[in-house]
Amino acid sequence: MPDHPARVLKLAVFGDPIAHSRSPELHRFFAAATGLSISYERIHARADELATKLHAFIAAGGHGANITVPHKQAVMAHCDQLSARAVRAAAVNTLARSDSGWLGDNTDGAGLLLDLQDKGVELTGAAVLIIGAGGATRGIVPALLDAGVGHIVVANRSAAKAQDLVQTLADSRVVASALKPGYGETFDLLIHATAAGHHNSALPLPEILSGHPYCYDLSYGTASHNFLHWAAQHGCRHCDGLGMLVAQAAESFKLWTDQTISPELRAALFRQLQQ
Ligand code: ATR
Repeated sequence: MPDHPARVLKLAVFGDPIAHSRSPELHRFFAAATGLSISYERIHARADELATKLHAFIAAGGHGANITVPHKQAVMAHCDQLSARAVRAAAVNTLARSDSGWLGDNTDGAGLLLDLQDKGVELTGAAVLIIGAGGATRGIVPALLDAGVGHIVVANRSAAKAQDLVQTLADSRVVASALKPGYGETFDLLIHATAAGHHNSALPLPEILSGHPYCYDLSYGTASHNFLHWAAQHGCRHCDGLGMLVAQAAESFKLWTDQTISPELRAALFRQLQQ
């Protein structure tokens, strides 16, 4: 036995529900590939339990955590510092322990950009339509703007919520819209970001779609099937959010460990998850 056994980094994901989360599998894969020792558990926390369970995790030596639905906004109140991208997204999906307490960060937008890059989707000057204006949309819009897209239309069932999001972002390249049969323009990228696929309800897709935008569903698995089927029917290239899931996890892992996960490793994990 070595005198100083390697430190085991204590990590976790907090959410409600949480049993379905694939995060432990992702981070154990990265740890094995980089030779680091981690423990990574799923912690079920209802809204009224989040503070207590976070404190217990810190007291037990917690080093970092992922935060998922429905706590991405509420957890901001428990952060001692917020990264610029977490502030712009008004949501936190990653907590990292620092000398001054918890740093709250948001790696969703960076994850989406990495995955779009892997898939060869050109973003400079792109016209983007995002359907849905919830937390998922908030997480990705700042990153798309930074990547140089031309403009973004955020269309939502409740137009007031889309308007709200656009006002917070205060960037003339983002406009809000109600859901409509058509938007009177051609898009390069169409992102589906509603929760409709999770509720098995009909998807609010444009009836008239000019051009062939790259169609990206932020969900994966069965929740993305209807959208991807629709995209295929319209002759559009398409993908689900599995690549983004891997890439946002890689960004969180880097924050906790300073280890960069290569595109090849991400691709290997992606293939494993698809099996
Ligand atoms: P998330 O954090 O995953 O984005 P959310 O904040 O609950 O989840 O947001 C869910 C999004 O899906 C919202 O844009 C919601 O529209 P409303 O703001 O009008 O509620 C959208 N959504 C959910 N079910 C939908 C449906 N059946 N049709 C259209 N939009 C739907």
